[in-house]
Amino acid sequence: MWSMLKNVASVKVFYLVFTRIILATFWRNLWYWNTLEDRLLAYVKKTAVEGDPASVLAAFEKYIQNYEWTIAIKSAQKQKTEEVVKKAAPKICFEMGCYVGLSAITVASQIPPGGRLITVEYVPKTADVARELVHFAGLDQVITVVTGTAEDTIKVLRSEYHVDKLDFVFVDHCKWQYLPDLKLLEKERLLRKGTIIMADDTLWPGAPDYLEYVENDPRYQTERFYRTVPMFNVRDALAISVYTGDD
Ligand SMILES: C[S@@+](CC[C@H](N)C(=O)[O-])C[C@H]1O[C@@H](n2cnc3c(N)ncnc32)[C@H](O)[C@@H]1O
Repeated sequence: MWSMLKNVASVKVFYLVFTRIILATFWRNLWYWNTLEDRLLAYVKKTAVEGDPASVLAAFEKYIQNYEWTIAIKSAQKQKTEEVVKKAAPKICFEMGCYVGLSAITVASQIPPGGRLITVEYVPKTADVARELVHFAGLDQVITVVTGTAEDTIKVLRSEYHVDKLDFVFVDHCKWQYLPDLKLLEKERLLRKGTIIMADDTLWPGAPDYLEYVENDPRYQTERFYRTVPMFNVRDALAISVYTGDD
């Protein structure tokens, strides 16, 4: 009975994802002959104040709330991220999965002067939009948008981006890469005692192996920050971990 109900729920979520996101975006792309990222960029540039990250973030949120669903961080996690980053005041930050830069601008707005964020995005055109938005927000000196995979970027963080240890990591790229890329950060000795690692979407779409790892390995202290994904009515969690292992 339970598995039948679960199946009905998954079919409903699949139906909603397909009709309200995939099909809706497809038709809009055809109608306007551009992409969701182009529309988002145009809206932010038209309605936000250049050089003011807070107004760029507000415009982003307004677009997402009023016009189109995107894969960018949602309001509840955004607020939690702001809170955690503000409290931790990290100097060297790394993000895996930039998309068009909403979470990157969120993090960069809270880090102390002199801090920096390296964010990596796999899709070149999306990375270009992120660079344009970062520039518009006046954060060129704080955020570096790298085009490529998180894996390749981690391998050159020390040599090309002069990172010794990371203070804060935001994990938000493809879910099956969460764990391998965290292990790569460990292998490259880029974590220090106290590094904060926040991972989004750990329950939905879900990164179960990652969650299992950070909740059971004694080098990590992890707590979950729950939220309900509004359109689909499913539960998700932001996993907030503190690395307590050796530097
Ligand atoms: C959920 S979105 C990120 C949203 C962004 N963090 C925000 O909240 O504004 C995931 C992004 O990760 C990118 N991505 C997927 N796999 C990746 C990988 N292995 N390395 C880097 N980026 C990747 C995707 O192209 C997509 O733009």
